[in-house]
Amino acid sequence: MTSKYFKKKDITSSLYPSGDLKRSLSASNLITLGIGAIVGTGIFVITGQAASLYAGPALTFSFLISAFGCVMAGLCYAEFAAMMPVAGSVYSYSYTTTGEMPAWFIGWTLILEYLFACSSVAVGWSGYMTSLLDGWNIHLPTSIAQAAFDHVNNRWIWTGSLINFPAVFIIAVISALLIGGIKQSALINNVIVVIKVGVILLFIGFGLSFIDTGNWHPYIPQNTGKFGEYGWSGILRGAGVVFYAYLGFDALSTAAQEARNPQKDMPKGILVSLIICAILYVSVTAVLTGIVNYKELNVPAPIALAIDRTGEGLSWLSPFIKLGAIAGLSSVILVMMMGQSRIYYAISKDGLLPKIFSKVHKKHRVPQNATIFACVVTGLFAGLFPLHVLSELVSIGTLLAFTIVCISVIILRKTRPDLERPFKTPLVPLVPLLGAGICFLQMISLPWSTWLRLIVWTATGFVIYFTYGIKHSVVQRKNE
Ligand code: ALA
Repeated sequence: MTSKYFKKKDITSSLYPSGDLKRSLSASNLITLGIGAIVGTGIFVITGQAASLYAGPALTFSFLISAFGCVMAGLCYAEFAAMMPVAGSVYSYSYTTTGEMPAWFIGWTLILEYLFACSSVAVGWSGYMTSLLDGWNIHLPTSIAQAAFDHVNNRWIWTGSLINFPAVFIIAVISALLIGGIKQSALINNVIVVIKVGVILLFIGFGLSFIDTGNWHPYIPQNTGKFGEYGWSGILRGAGVVFYAYLGFDALSTAAQEARNPQKDMPKGILVSLIICAILYVSVTAVLTGIVNYKELNVPAPIALAIDRTGEGLSWLSPFIKLGAIAGLSSVILVMMMGQSRIYYAISKDGLLPKIFSKVHKKHRVPQNATIFACVVTGLFAGLFPLHVLSELVSIGTLLAFTIVCISVIILRKTRPDLERPFKTPLVPLVPLLGAGICFLQMISLPWSTWLRLIVWTATGFVIYFTYGIKHSVVQRKNE
């Protein structure tokens, strides 16, 4: 007999989820939501640092390697998202494949990913906004534009600041937007995506004529003797670092229950947005390292630096780049906040979190309480803690989720070969094994301190499960 901790949810409830959320997203909405979630800090900040410190101009290869790993995981996500168009994403998939306790563990890990992704990107948004305001001679006092706490030399300190107000502000605005309805949110996301992709295309198009091909020699700088500093090992480390730039396509799967035709459109949304982003990233990197020598790119705003280097040539583009970055970060927050609230909603529907989180707004048919809760918690983290503390946990949570999705595809193909799969991951088990392997390798290359925080987070999750979840679980009650 299966232990009660591994009770599985009947898969048919996930194949045909009840319709309390509104199905209003079209295929193109899903693709733009995907691009909205993906293009952000990664391209506007991390590209320069990764080229400068690890891979040089060959960061283009790093982007391709990282894209390969993401496409493997994306193909697995696509199979599940088309087969089980539910709001809970990996959490719901594993409830039907591995059972309740592992599902809770995954759900809790997804909360970690989205919570810290939202709050870290909001802190990045605050940085760009403060600098834009500075440019207009509006100077926010640091007491309301910086984290209140920092972790320095293994000690927590109070920075003297009260709160990072711009970070809290953007989270509140986006939450209000989300409560206003998914259709409205998708519309605003479309506008943002047009702005940020437009700005990136302008940079690529106009930047081309300022490339000095001398900057591409050597294309793969020689390794310094240390693993990860240029050469092929540098390209690999670069791939691990720019992985962050692709995060977000998975958040799209949480919108499956709000898609008009999830069977056909979810795989399209996930894969097309990933491929478009990979092309944009490789092109930006090529232009960037062609205009500025990679050694000089370790700066907070590398694209802005490249524009300055063109002298008068592209100076008109500079304010647009800042605007593009601010817009870009806003839509990343939007889709990640949506993902976070949908996870609370899905878990609460199963009784593992209080029922209050699955209440749906009567008119807009969005999970309003879950969104408000996500807003408060994310706002607290973004307002009180600095970027480096928040961003550490994002990657490990995501990689773990990706690994589990890949493995689950193989398990479900064996245990339920009969289920209708509108989209099938090709070359199973090769593709899922490659996806899981690449993600797991990246996980074990992360520092021990990140693992320790993951362990503390997970332990807290289990305390909640054993003191609350198991007692209120709908699946357990049904069995009783
Ligand atoms: N992919 C997202 C970004 O680069 C997280 O900001």
